[in-house]
Amino acid sequence: MKRIEAMIRPAKLDEVKDALAAIGISGMTISEAKGFGRTGGKREVYRGSAYVVDFVPKVKVEIVLEDSLVEGALEAIRRSAATGKIGDGKIFVYDIAEVVRIRTGEHGKDAV
Ligand SMILES: Nc1ncnc2c1ncn2[C@@H]1O[C@H](COP(=O)(O)OP(=O)(O)OP(=O)(O)O)[C@@H](O)[C@H]1O
Ligand SMILES: [Mg+2]
Repeated sequence: MKRIEAMIRPAKLDEVKDALAAIGISGMTISEAKGFGRTGGKREVYRGSAYVVDFVPKVKVEIVLEDSLVEGALEAIRRSAATGKIGDGKIFVYDIAEVVRIRTGEHGKDAV
């Protein structure tokens, strides 16, 4: 099992959600975040204004999924989140040690 953490443009959240729903993911967590990447935040434009500080608003999307779905999920996120401009975002993939579904007590793959 893997955890995908994608930092995306807030305006792309709906598209990313729909693209992931289409490949059959079973859950998703999102949170508001701020950050900067390799190019820094200074050259990014958000809602028409160039940011003069380093931190630019992003949405963090987290999904946990079976290994076999990872490649498709990465492609779905990349395709739906991209504009081709600086600040399109970044995707991180982590190994997941364990998952427990609280209601049923299921563990591992069955719990995802
Ligand atoms: N190395 C990193 N570590 C942690 N978070 C990062 C890292 N790189 C990017 N992020 C997060 O991802 C968001 C989007 O990054 P961003 O797309 O600006 O990356 P970039 O490397 O600057 O690429 P680009 O040239 O497309 O802007 C950042 O605002 C930050 O929240
Ligand atoms: Mg950047």
